[in-house]
Amino acid sequence: ASQSRGGRAPGTRNCTLSWSFCTMLPGEKLDPIPDSFILQPPVFHPVVPYVTTIFGGLHIGKMVMLQGGVPLGARRFQVDFQCGCSLCPRPDIAIHFNPRFHTSKPHVICNTLHGGHWQREARWPHLPLQKGDSFLILFLFGNEDVKVSVNGHHFLHYRYRLPLSRVDTLGIFGDIVVEAVGFLNINPFVEGSREYPAGHPFLLRSPRLEVPCSCALPRGLWPGQVIVVRGLVLQEPKDFTLSLRDEAAHSPVTLRASFADRTLAWISPWGRKKLISAPFLFHPQRFFEVLLLCQEGGLKLALNGQGLGATTLGQQALERLRDLRISGSVQLYCVHY
Ligand code: GAL
Repeated sequence: ASQSRGGRAPGTRNCTLSWSFCTMLPGEKLDPIPDSFILQPPVFHPVVPYVTTIFGGLHIGKMVMLQGGVPLGARRFQVDFQCGCSLCPRPDIAIHFNPRFHTSKPHVICNTLHGGHWQREARWPHLPLQKGDSFLILFLFGNEDVKVSVNGHHFLHYRYRLPLSRVDTLGIFGDIVVEAVGFLNINPFVEGSREYPAGHPFLLRSPRLEVPCSCALPRGLWPGQVIVVRGLVLQEPKDFTLSLRDEAAHSPVTLRASFADRTLAWISPWGRKKLISAPFLFHPQRFFEVLLLCQEGGLKLALNGQGLGATTLGQQALERLRDLRISGSVQLYCVHY
């Protein structure tokens, strides 16, 4: 399948869809899906050194999330965004992110390897990580630079010296324990804004995320709030339902994916179905990402990074919501609100 790559401007993402059949599994009917809808699943507990292809390469608005820890005896580790994966000759490394712990002042070096030669090093002191710490590092790829946050705080930005469109491989080497690597989209509704995206950790087999899963919303929902649900569709799925319930256990908002007829729909409290017109994006054993943005008068929906319209709901009804429920044939990695 062709992969869409390169420095697309954020606002143009919906207009540059190319179509592919690569999400098909045996027995599935032909149903072309735009490449930009396909998400790379997270990887849990990979063995380091770990090298993986970045599906579709990197583009503006994409994020790579790294959850892990620094071993007590660590000297250094590195996260390389590489242009290819050959061993010999060495591939160019567009972004080399290299925390070093073995000196008296732990620091981070970033650099670019071009044609076998390291360029001028950029150095950041005051590394907010120590030996023995666990961390969540987020790489956010912007127009001109990559921003890196550590444990929710912005740490550095590094200006690209090679085009982002050349990067197709992630390499993780050195003294690091990796719990999870995630490949995420920024919230399509905040593109262009100055909001710094926060990474929410992935949990593997957490009792809190066991399906059916219920999360309390003690103060209801209010404009600007975002609900993020990330997970994996199970084998032979039947349905997936996300509903928001109020104190009286009414569900003014229900989103349902039915695998039998491959439809995604809003379900009214009276059971009426309002189909959402978009390619059916839930596939057995594939990663998915549902994002709901509360705004005045309703909730905007994005699936796998693509905006798919909104459902109306008055402010009072939003405030009265008390419970987010998720049920069906999915394994959840992250529910955040
Ligand atoms: C070198 C080191 C490389 C890389 C590079 C970055 O000294 O051997 O692994 O970290 O610095 O500038």
